[in-house]
Amino acid sequence: MTRIRLNNSIYMKKITHTFEYLVYNSAAELNTTDQELLEKAKEAVSSSHAPYSRYHVGAAVRMANGAVFSGSNQENMAFPAGLCAERVAVFAAVSNFPNVPVDAIAITAMADAFEVSEPVPPCGMCRQAIVEYEMKYGNKIRLILGGHSGNVYVIESMKTLLPLTFHEEGLAKSVKC
Ligand code: THU
Repeated sequence: MTRIRLNNSIYMKKITHTFEYLVYNSAAELNTTDQELLEKAKEAVSSSHAPYSRYHVGAAVRMANGAVFSGSNQENMAFPAGLCAERVAVFAAVSNFPNVPVDAIAITAMADAFEVSEPVPPCGMCRQAIVEYEMKYGNKIRLILGGHSGNVYVIESMKTLLPLTFHEEGLAKSVKC
């Protein structure tokens, strides 16, 4: 944090957020657990329903009890009704084991028209949806981001991808009563 002087009595603060991620040359370099989860995400791509974007996303979630749930993007001709792969997978996981933290999520994609050679990061809405489960259990959710080929990124926590996360303790309390 840097303090910047505006005049004799007023200061403002400048806060910088940084985040780190690991870049692997390929999935083969990952540890076995991450490699297996990314493989599950790749398998999930085949269940994608994406006739409109022709971009097929697969996600796989590993929970603290070892359970793995996968999901794929499900599009709809009423476009906003569709859902991203990550939320399909995470919601399946947490609705099956509502009291078990989520440990990790792997994401990948294949496109009909081009080679996805860059890691696929989660969209903003998925970041918000997933970070809620970090806040719920106070644990970090590891991200393993792959493409169909190429580098794989590993990020220690969803929170790092969502600085200044929306959270409102009062809202959570009002829901409980
Ligand atoms: N999509 C995902 O499944 N996850 C993301 O994080 C971003 C986008 C899907 C939504 C849509 O079906 C297709 O990819 C193209 O945007």
